[in-house]
Amino acid sequence: MPDCIAFGGDLAGDAAWIGKSLDFLRTIPSGPRKFAVCGNWELRRRWLPAERWRKIFDEAGFQLLMNETAEACGIQFHGLDDAKEGDGLSREAAIPRSENVCILSHNPDTAAAMLLTDKLKGAPLILCGHTHGGQFRIPGFGAVVTSSRYRKRLEYGAYRHSSTGATMYVSAGIGATWFNARICCPPEVLFVNFC
Ligand SMILES: [Fe+2]
Repeated sequence: MPDCIAFGGDLAGDAAWIGKSLDFLRTIPSGPRKFAVCGNWELRRRWLPAERWRKIFDEAGFQLLMNETAEACGIQFHGLDDAKEGDGLSREAAIPRSENVCILSHNPDTAAAMLLTDKLKGAPLILCGHTHGGQFRIPGFGAVVTSSRYRKRLEYGAYRHSSTGATMYVSAGIGATWFNARICCPPEVLFVNFC
């Protein structure tokens, strides 16, 4: 059992899926500290207020971090608001500068924009999702299309930022968009060992 669990957002894109999605989150055993960030689907056109999402995640035992920091197991988890549909960078809060910071950013573009402006300086690890690794991949080529503005540069996997040394991992996640299918892109849950 991990010490902490982070959910990277895009729980549900409409009300019909909230019940099932919550049932899924509730299957995760209690014990670990659980954190969540909103993805673009939770915040799309503000179909539910952000504070409602805080309550929904709370019901499933997850603490929603929207430009907020929480500490667990000696790690400071800082969840970024989504830049695509949320208030993103305009409402950002101070990010702890410590070697024990883990940034949770649904969209790698949010974190990339902050890396470019030095606002994530000192953060060694950034965990992202959103792209689904492309969802449809061709061996030897990778994602056919991606939802990152950086296209294939941030489609999937581990990246190291040359000037800060930060490692960003863009997970393929476990969900699907538009088509409930994946090709050469299995769902994944990332395990991180901070020791
Ligand atoms: Fe997303």
